[in-house]
Amino acid sequence: MNRILISLCLILFAVPAVAGTSNSLMDISTDGQLLVCSNRDTGTLSVVDLATNKKLREVKVGRHPEGVTFIGDSHHVAVAIYGEDRIEFIDADSGTKTGTVDVFDEPYSVVSNADGSRIWATLEYPGEVIEIDPAKKSIVRKVQAGKFLRGLALTRQGQLLVTEYLTGVVKAIDVKSFKVVDEWKGSSEDNLARQITTHPEWAKAYLPHQRSLITVNHGSGSIFPYLGIVNLDDGEGSRRKRKQMDSFRGVYVVANPWEVAVAPDGKRLYIIFSGTDDMFVCDLVNDDYREVEFAGLLRTQSNPRAVKVSPDSKTFYVYSALDFTVDVYNAKTQRLQGSIPVTNWTGDPDVLLGKKLFYTAHPPMTSRRWISCSSCHPDGDSDGRTWQQPEGLRGTQPMFGLKYTHPIHWSADRDEVHDFEHTIRSRLMGGRGLIKGKVNESLGQPNEGLSKELDALANYTNSHSFELSPHAKSGLSDSAKRGKELFFSTKVGCAKCHSGSYLTDQKMHDVGTGDGTDDPTEKFGPEFDTPTLLGLYRSAPYLHHGKAKSIAEVLTTQNKNDKHGQTSHLTQKQIADLVEFIQALPYESP
Ligand code: HEC
Ligand code: HEC
Repeated sequence: MNRILISLCLILFAVPAVAGTSNSLMDISTDGQLLVCSNRDTGTLSVVDLATNKKLREVKVGRHPEGVTFIGDSHHVAVAIYGEDRIEFIDADSGTKTGTVDVFDEPYSVVSNADGSRIWATLEYPGEVIEIDPAKKSIVRKVQAGKFLRGLALTRQGQLLVTEYLTGVVKAIDVKSFKVVDEWKGSSEDNLARQITTHPEWAKAYLPHQRSLITVNHGSGSIFPYLGIVNLDDGEGSRRKRKQMDSFRGVYVVANPWEVAVAPDGKRLYIIFSGTDDMFVCDLVNDDYREVEFAGLLRTQSNPRAVKVSPDSKTFYVYSALDFTVDVYNAKTQRLQGSIPVTNWTGDPDVLLGKKLFYTAHPPMTSRRWISCSSCHPDGDSDGRTWQQPEGLRGTQPMFGLKYTHPIHWSADRDEVHDFEHTIRSRLMGGRGLIKGKVNESLGQPNEGLSKELDALANYTNSHSFELSPHAKSGLSDSAKRGKELFFSTKVGCAKCHSGSYLTDQKMHDVGTGDGTDDPTEKFGPEFDTPTLLGLYRSAPYLHHGKAKSIAEVLTTQNKNDKHGQTSHLTQKQIADLVEFIQALPYESP
């Protein structure tokens, strides 16, 4: 009798305290002894002793580590190395590496089941979820589950929830069959959903994300912070709701929600805002109506990117990605109890200053705290959106290789990143700006050297480099080789404009895409700056106005009069070869 009671209690208590069932850049071991965080900018994993709140060790793991999890109730850790396409296994007690699993591309998050027999990871590109046996260090199963997958959580009902980063769509994968079995759509404006977490008892999941309103004139008031709430039951009530976080506390505006954490006792939810460096503490309500109630507002350090609660729900931890600290808070008093330095920036201090400016929604970058450069260019990548600008429709360009592909913008109206002083002061951001006093209206006059901060912002913006295409991991395929020949042939003539190691002549051309038929709001066409063709495999939609959904469309339906290279004489197979070649770019470092 006693034994049954004890084991019952063990089962009951074991459920809420499981580490790593929702994705995060930080995790706490089931016994509450250790905390680990992945340091994206320094390429390390830090291990913290939670009894003393001291960093025990820091382990080099590779370029751009992202999600991290303890495996079951052990002190073994799995961390996703986004920039090097592998999952690394580490013993947190000793800091030794215990194994590695190579994956196709861009592993972002990783979670574990309670007994540590399986872990799962999302591959942002190509949008797969993979199941790994951590004992054998091998991939067991995989499933294509959407596009640009980031968030990942394991529910008590045996499902994996995933989020599409650029749409906020949530999908459920049945762990048994490993098939997508359900889907919760939000609004078409939902964007940047990088995390999801479940409630320990209720059939609910929570996801932070933003909305990008692309049609607002001059973009003023176009970015909104949200908490999405997904009902996992098929019962009454709506399947998905959202709470607008910038009206949650009167007129107090917050920007760029990054992660949420639900306390293991199920009572509280913590949501951090990486643009305004603050967070809300919320009481959770299971009423299908209010869902969350305000319980506190706290300022954090620079660029909070992770939040986690201790197994006993008494302490919570906030990771600030640009001050490189984990802050410790008492959950009852909401008071800061300590700050643990977890890593050191070793790069150019100017790039760090520039990065802080790029991520902040504080003055002098903006005036009303709702937007930052990173709201549309997260980590230098694109938000996948085509914005209605005063000059016409414009797709957000990724910033990879930017330093070598000037001039800037589809219309080449800018010759240096310092000209973004105009973006800071525009109606879009409404900031005071980084240059003291008036700014030269002419974009031709150099703005470099007028402000240390502006130079730093330019340094950071110019610092992004390309990853090699996963489509060429074992070199160019035969099809890509045929495509390469066509590309460089005079008959097809792509290399006339797409030349040099970045495949751009950095000049303006009319390729028949800007005569106003596709976009009547166009003011600057018909000439556009030849874009680089590197990294295109993951940057759809294409062309300045985003009207080409695929690379093939650029070369067929969007190239009616052969103004954009000679393509009308090509067979379908030859077009496919050209596409295959472009998808393999860059196959070597430019
Ligand atoms: C509302 C979303 C949004 C915000 C906020 C934003 N951008 Fe952009 N960005 C875009 C779009 C859309 C484009 C393409 C515009 C064009 O080409 O005319 C772009 C283009 C760029 C480019 C050009 C890349 C290239 O390859 O030519 C750079 C550099 C850039 N932005 C930097 C910044 C900086 C710095 C900030 C903050 C001061 C910022 N952006 C704020 C949406 C945004
Ligand atoms: C006369 C110069 C020129 C030639 C020749 C040319 N391009 Fe382009 N390419 C451009 C310009 C300019 C753009 C941008 C047009 C726009 O956005 O409306 C572009 C855009 C593209 C894009 C879309 C890139 C993106 O980021 O959205 C692809 C793909 C592309 N070109 C491939 C090719 C291929 C393949 C060929 C040969 C069949 C070719 N181009 C020939 C100038 C050229």
